[in-house]
Amino acid sequence: MPIKNIDDGSGETLRVLEVDGYFAPTFDTVFQNQQEEEFRSIPNWPLKPDDVLICAYPKAGTHWLWEVSSMLVNQSADRVKLIKETAMLEALTEEQFRNIPSPRVLNTHIPLRLMPKDTLSNKTKIVFVQRNPKDICVSFFNHHSKIVEYDFNGKFENYVNRFLKGLVDYGSWFEYTLEWEKIIRDNPEHPFHMMSYEDMKSDPISEIGRLSEFLGLKSSPELIAEIADKCDFSAMKKEKDPLENTKDWKDAKPGMYRKGQVGDWKNWFTVAQSEYFDTVFNQRMKDSSFTYRFS
Ligand code: A3P
Repeated sequence: MPIKNIDDGSGETLRVLEVDGYFAPTFDTVFQNQQEEEFRSIPNWPLKPDDVLICAYPKAGTHWLWEVSSMLVNQSADRVKLIKETAMLEALTEEQFRNIPSPRVLNTHIPLRLMPKDTLSNKTKIVFVQRNPKDICVSFFNHHSKIVEYDFNGKFENYVNRFLKGLVDYGSWFEYTLEWEKIIRDNPEHPFHMMSYEDMKSDPISEIGRLSEFLGLKSSPELIAEIADKCDFSAMKKEKDPLENTKDWKDAKPGMYRKGQVGDWKNWFTVAQSEYFDTVFNQRMKDSSFTYRFS
């Protein structure tokens, strides 16, 4: 298996799977040796007309929106008893993917070119979730630090550079985001629904209502309120972290639901790091019309 230890120049390394130059997580506890071939075959996996795909860079709130979308599609606020990774393209074999019962709420962090090739032609509904990249950076650092397969023991002072250079699984946040922005712009007829972590935090009821409409569902105000409640950070942390595979986590302590706040980056970045981040951000995003709320 083509395991790569990505060195950012500081001597610290992050262990990933490299497939044709692309970095993905190894998902060691899911796959043995066949992951590379499975990964390469994803473009040939068949989508169904009622599939919904949640697309997001890691740590943008994928678990949250997957839970909310699944409840909406089920028209029930009952806790989803499975973890998001059971419907995550790059964490599955084709057989597992085909066995997910419909209607399927799928999710992925890989770019469109590596996703099922029918995505656009089938007009598959896509929920595109964004979050301000400083909070993503902090959340990804904690993710890398806590999950066994990354074998990562780096310091945050080096990590900001690693993140800005895209020396992480799924690569550069800038490339991912700009590529999707272009795809969304070039395909105005495609059903895309834009969401942000920050909007979900400040007004979950309206955001879940908008999502329900996009999914073509007639959800009652009571159901929407109940879903917002069940998918609140503390409720999810309490009920979903215990469903994680403890083998994946250092000290067998799952920590997928960490802090769940907007602006936690201020507790991590130094002033110099924040200014450097802004410089790179302003340069890389100068032609983008996406906007982000950092606090
Ligand atoms: P933090 O590390 O900042 O807490 P993803 O699901 O894309 O991997 O994103 C994970 C981030 O979303 C983590 O951020 C996690 O705590 C947060 N998150 C997960 N569920 C949430 C919820 N119900 N409400 C708010 N934030 C949530």
